Amino acid sequence: MIEATGLRKSFRVGRGRGATTVDAVRGVDFAVRRGEIVGFLGPNGAGKSTTLRMLATLIRPSGGAATIAGVDLLRAPAQVRRRIGFVAQASGTYDDSTARRDLVLQARMHGLSKSVAQELAAGAIRAFQLDDFADRKIKTYSGGQRRRLDVALGVIHSPQVMFLDEPTAGLDPPSRVRMWQEVRRLREAGMTIFLTTHYLDEADSLCDRVSIIDAGRIVAEGTPSALKREISGDVVAVDFAAEVAGETGGDLPAATKLLAEAPYVHAAEPVDGTLRLYVDSAATAIPQIMRALYDRGIEPGAIEARRPSLDDVFLAKTGRSLAE
Ligand SMILES: Nc1ncnc2c1ncn2[C@@H]1O[C@H](COP(=O)(O)OP(=O)(O)OP(=O)(O)O)[C@@H](O)[C@H]1O
Ligand SMILES: [Mg+2]
Repeated sequence: MIEATGLRKSFRVGRGRGATTVDAVRGVDFAVRRGEIVGFLGPNGAGKSTTLRMLATLIRPSGGAATIAGVDLLRAPAQVRRRIGFVAQASGTYDDSTARRDLVLQARMHGLSKSVAQELAAGAIRAFQLDDFADRKIKTYSGGQRRRLDVALGVIHSPQVMFLDEPTAGLDPPSRVRMWQEVRRLREAGMTIFLTTHYLDEADSLCDRVSIIDAGRIVAEGTPSALKREISGDVVAVDFAAEVAGETGGDLPAATKLLAEAPYVHAAEPVDGTLRLYVDSAATAIPQIMRALYDRGIEPGAIEARRPSLDDVFLAKTGRSLAE
C-alpha cells in the first residue's frame, strides 16, 4: 500500500550568502503492506514528520519516488489525496465549532450525504470517547480531548491509507491505550496505517513493523521482536543513579571501563546513570559482574536483568539512547 524508494527532502533556509540547506530526510526506503500498522520510531528532528508530509502530498520530495495504494505520489498527487487520511502532529482545531459539527462537515466535504455524515459523526464520537464534550466548543477542550478529535476527523471518510503523526502525543496513559485500541480497530476495518512515534512502548506494542529513523536515515527495520532478537542475549542494567546524584560520584565511569573489558560482556553503555551491559546470559554474568565491582570497591544500587528493548536496538545502531 505504501512503497518508498530513496525518498529525500532538503530544505533551503535563509537567503543569499547566508543560505544553507537542511537535509531533513536523506533517502529512505520502506514498504507497507495492506492492513499493516507500521511505525517510524525516532528522536526529535529525525525526519519523521517530513517523511509523512511528503507521503501525504503536503510537501514535494527533493528526490526519490513513492507509490500509495498503487498511485504515483509525484505524478498523481490529487489521486493519492483521495485515498489517504492525514493527522498532523500539531492540532488544527481551535475554533468556535464543536466536535460533532466539525465531524459532520468533514464527512460532507468527502461527498457524503447529511444523514450518513451525521451517522458517521455519532460513531466517531463513541469510538474516540468524545461523548462528554462533543457538543461543546472545541476551544474549551483539553489537549488530549483535542488530539482524539484530530484523529477522529482524519479517519471519518475511512481512507485506505491513514497517516498519523504522533497520534498519542500529549495523551495520558489510559488515553494512549484507548487510542491504540482505536488504531487497531481501524486496521480491522481494512485501513493500512503508517504512524510516527518517539514512544518505545508504542512502537513495540502497536506496530507490526518498525523503522527506526535517525538524522534522516533508517538505521534498522523489522518487527519489534525481530529487532530485539538482533540484540542477542540479555541486558543487565546496573543502577548508579544514586551515586551520580549523591556524594561519591565517579563510580559509573569506573564501572563502565572495568566491565567493558570483561570477557563475558559484549558491550557496556552508560545511559542516564545506569550501566547497560550486553551479555549472553544474565544468570551467569550477574555473579561475575558483582564480584568484579566489589573487588574494585564499587557498590552499585540495584542490578536488574531484562530482555533487550527497542531502546537497546536504537542504542546499538546510533550510540545514543532514545529513552534518554
Ligand atoms: N520547513 C522546514 N524548513 C527547514 N527545516 C525544516 C523544515 N521542516 C523540518 N525541518 C528540519 O528537518 C529536520 C526533520 O524535521 P521533522 O519535523 O521531520 O522531524 P521529526 O522526526 O518529525 O521530529 P519531532 O519528533 O520533533 O516531531 C529537523 O532538523 C527540522 O528542523
Ligand atoms: Mg514530527
